[in-house]
Amino acid sequence: MLAIAVRPGSPGSVHARELDRPSIGDVPDGRGVLVRTIRVGLCGTDREIIDGLFGTPPEGADHLVLGHESLGRVEAVGDGVAGQLEPGTLVVATVRRSGTSPYDRIGMYDFTTDPPLERGINRWHGFLSEFYLDTEDFLVPVPASLARVGVLLEPLSIVEKGLAQADEIQRRLRIWRPQRAAVTGAGTIGLLVTLALRLRGVDVTVLSRRPAPYRNSDLVKALGATYLSTAGTSLAGAGRACGPFDLVFEASGHSPFAFEAVGALGANGIVVLSGVTGGPRPIEIDANAINQDLVLNNKVIVGTVNASRDDFVRGVEDLVRAERTYPGWLERLLTTPVHGLSDAGAIVTALADREAIKAFVVVDRSLDAAP
Ligand SMILES: NC(=O)c1ccc[n+]([C@@H]2O[C@H](COP(=O)([O-])OP(=O)(O)OC[C@H]3O[C@@H](n4cnc5c(N)ncnc54)[C@H](OP(=O)(O)O)[C@@H]3O)[C@@H](O)[C@H]2O)c1
Repeated sequence: MLAIAVRPGSPGSVHARELDRPSIGDVPDGRGVLVRTIRVGLCGTDREIIDGLFGTPPEGADHLVLGHESLGRVEAVGDGVAGQLEPGTLVVATVRRSGTSPYDRIGMYDFTTDPPLERGINRWHGFLSEFYLDTEDFLVPVPASLARVGVLLEPLSIVEKGLAQADEIQRRLRIWRPQRAAVTGAGTIGLLVTLALRLRGVDVTVLSRRPAPYRNSDLVKALGATYLSTAGTSLAGAGRACGPFDLVFEASGHSPFAFEAVGALGANGIVVLSGVTGGPRPIEIDANAINQDLVLNNKVIVGTVNASRDDFVRGVEDLVRAERTYPGWLERLLTTPVHGLSDAGAIVTALADREAIKAFVVVDRSLDAAP
């Protein structure tokens, strides 16, 4: 079968290669589930792995199969698979795999303190191949009605985790009900945060770089949220005009927002950070003011990375609600398809497209052939 792989640490090594098709017999005790890959989403992490900045091959291998945002269809299940999965079921696989830390032992593998095992990223092959093998614990069933948009579940799971952590932390307040939120960044993650918050009835202001109107600001508007450009408004200004915010979700990767966000929050508010920001970026901040604001106003800053199976399951529920509440909106995020697994260069081109919202590889064309 065909797959797209890199030699981690070697920039430009991305290539198509032939691999043996896995078999359910490769997993002991009949627990194997063979999945035929339909679509795989691409994101900045894939770009960094292709650029040689990130990623680790599985033990004993010199290559890593890329891809962590998947949608597939169960092809075959082993005798020991007792749950909901059967041939034909649509599934999305979670990314992290369990280690041995105390968190892993209680099922919280997204909080592991072990070196991470992550499909398509660290020490485990990903999903950019015609088939992959997994076990039921890590496969989340997706209804057939989500076939065209289910590939967005993995990025949405990061959002779900961030919002779930905010809820969990804010239980300290007994009656926390966020009413106004700001989202920084209007890329895939920022748009999905906006969607998830609007589905929860929150009034959302999105702050991002480009002046409106453009495709992403139109998508924000279609959700009934407000779009502001940083060309005309600072985060503090947005806080004065549309806040104070109960929650700020940072989804731009512009790390100074992590500190500016504190001032745009109301008392008891929370900042959720999602940006993965490699390399140095020294800036000058008023540390006293930020520290004092956090302390005197009971504010919190928390990061979100990776996601648990529960976050994926909540994401499925939100995708279903989104299709009902904002029909067609999710599919508008899927801007940039790459067809097939034979042309690794097309993946590099799609990832470099500044106008793309979500680039994705069409591995199995059956969905595109469907009416
Ligand atoms: N924590 C996790 O597990 C996880 C998972 C996925 C992604 N991420 C991170 O989440 C962030 C967002 O991901 P994404 O896929 O949505 O990225 P993206 O598509 O590149 O979107 C980033 C958005 O932020 C805007 N932006 C960037 N710099 C800005 C600035 N200085 N001021 C105002 N707006 C700015 C961009 O505007 P332009 O389009 O005009 O540049 C774009 O709308 C990234 O930092 C990524 O690393 C984290």
